[in-house]
Amino acid sequence: MSLDMLTIPAQCVAESRIAELDYNNIEFGKIFADHMLVADYKDSAWQIPQILPYGNMSLSPATSAIHYGQSIFEGMKAYKDANGDILLFRPLDNFRRLNKSAERMCMPAITEDIFMQGLEQLLRLDAAWVPPTPGCALYIRPFMFATDEFIGVRPSSNYRFAVFTCPVGAYYGQALKVAIEPHYVRSAEGGAGFAKAAGNYGAALLPAKAMQERGYHQLIWTDAREHKYIEESGTMNLMFVLDGKLITPPVSTTILAGITRDSVLQLAQGLGYTVEERKVSVDELVEAYKAGMLQEAFGTGTAATIAQIATIHYDGLDMDLPAVEGREISNRISTELDKIKTGEAPDLYNWVHRI
Ligand code: COI
Repeated sequence: MSLDMLTIPAQCVAESRIAELDYNNIEFGKIFADHMLVADYKDSAWQIPQILPYGNMSLSPATSAIHYGQSIFEGMKAYKDANGDILLFRPLDNFRRLNKSAERMCMPAITEDIFMQGLEQLLRLDAAWVPPTPGCALYIRPFMFATDEFIGVRPSSNYRFAVFTCPVGAYYGQALKVAIEPHYVRSAEGGAGFAKAAGNYGAALLPAKAMQERGYHQLIWTDAREHKYIEESGTMNLMFVLDGKLITPPVSTTILAGITRDSVLQLAQGLGYTVEERKVSVDELVEAYKAGMLQEAFGTGTAATIAQIATIHYDGLDMDLPAVEGREISNRISTELDKIKTGEAPDLYNWVHRI
């Protein structure tokens, strides 16, 4: 299906709300650009997508996604370069990951042309919403959910894929205090932890809220079997610098394969740092901290970008890390990554998709 000729009927072009946007004061996830892309799956095929004004969708109360959770999503970002051109960061990786989530949740794969060409057209139309402000971006939220009007438990036959966008600033405004979760579990082997499924986030809310009530911004998940090994944090993969080496848990069926995570690892290797993808036990972190070798800790994610961790709490111990300003590896990688995303540095890894 080629969408090159997709015309947007005049009634589908929204009166712009861009005047409501203060480019210098953008809060995450509260203001949405003018248009959205919508494609429906029926009769075993994706139908021609439409671009519509951003707005409510009308759903039956019996919509199966609401009851049984066939609902997945992605998060990606677009930036502006110095000429005002729009640069999308690694969109094909988001496309592939969405389809991995779809497979696990028994949903149909979206086609590359609907995803990529739809996205390109949406971004061209809403180009003014990509903030030129340093540290800001247009956050893009592709998602898919089951739309059968049926409450028997079975895979839906009908689905909706949609994409809306919103200009965003930093997800976390400060270095984080996080705590290692000793009781709750995010994901077990054989489960759906690697999928970007809505239910994974819903089930994490109560434990995260409990940690927030104890004064921590986020929790760190540990493995379901022993609570011994570090997995990921609420909205991010995790990385540590131990004795000069960048170390992160390997992706697995329980951990989301973060695209920022992968970018950081490739960049770190390219910059000559030692990188290890291996299990990291809680005991190892505590011992490294006591020996003065826990030098950096940070989360990686599309929304979070590189989010510095100030303190890790475990079992009565607050492990306070060195000041953020002095953290060589994460600061250097963060700067390099920002330069690539905004076209300031050469795209040596072929990550940038120019629109
Ligand atoms: C992202 O980083 O894009 C995510 O999907 C995390 C989110 C839940 C804000």
